[in-house]
Amino acid sequence: MKWGILGALDAEIKEIRRHMHIDRETPLFGTAFYEGTVSGHDVVLVCCGVGKVNAAVCAATACDRFGADCIVNVGIAGAMAPGLHILDVVVSSEAGFHDQDMVMLDYYPKRAFFPADEPLAALCLRACDAIPALAGRVHRGRILSGDQFVGDAQTKQALNARFAPACVEMEGAAIAHAAFMFGKPYLVIRTMSDSADDAADETYDNFIDEAAHTSATIVLKMLELSGSPA
Ligand code: ADE
Repeated sequence: MKWGILGALDAEIKEIRRHMHIDRETPLFGTAFYEGTVSGHDVVLVCCGVGKVNAAVCAATACDRFGADCIVNVGIAGAMAPGLHILDVVVSSEAGFHDQDMVMLDYYPKRAFFPADEPLAALCLRACDAIPALAGRVHRGRILSGDQFVGDAQTKQALNARFAPACVEMEGAAIAHAAFMFGKPYLVIRTMSDSADDAADETYDNFIDEAAHTSATIVLKMLELSGSPA
């Protein structure tokens, strides 16, 4: 099984790259696909860039050209659900778009949300349990994606009323959609860098590194535990 691991920003993948034995680097789309192993598992890792199209194209390429059997998206997000705090973690239950018209539901793939892979989610929760600093900070929930940084209370309130997400970001649902088209299991793992509110710009700058590092640490632990008895 080859793992496809995608993060939008270098900050979101650099810790994984640091732990990876890299066999090959393929420059593409202004970024690079790294193939190699982490904890003995085959991995293709890419910094896909921000937004839905970059994410979908890189997820499709990871599957089609680099042979990824599953896709894991790691990174940061804005907290949306009440009670979700900065540096809390969301493990996707499903992912969908907030900037899509309802008319899209009449056309392939005729769905608003893409369910996450439960075995990957279970492995992720096991990995989180093995990281003492995450105790009480891990949540399952809906990931909402769109080509927009949500950074004001009014937009946050409107999106919460319409979709009741756990968190908001800019790639997860596009990666989920691409994985669905390829028939591959996927999971999104996001650590909260901000609360998608009026203070989001500043909070994001302060917490991006710690939040990105947390999500990367979780996927590294998943790879360490993968194949070992639960
Ligand atoms: N990624 C991290 N925080 C975000 C936010 N508030 N909106 C969209 N994407 C994000």
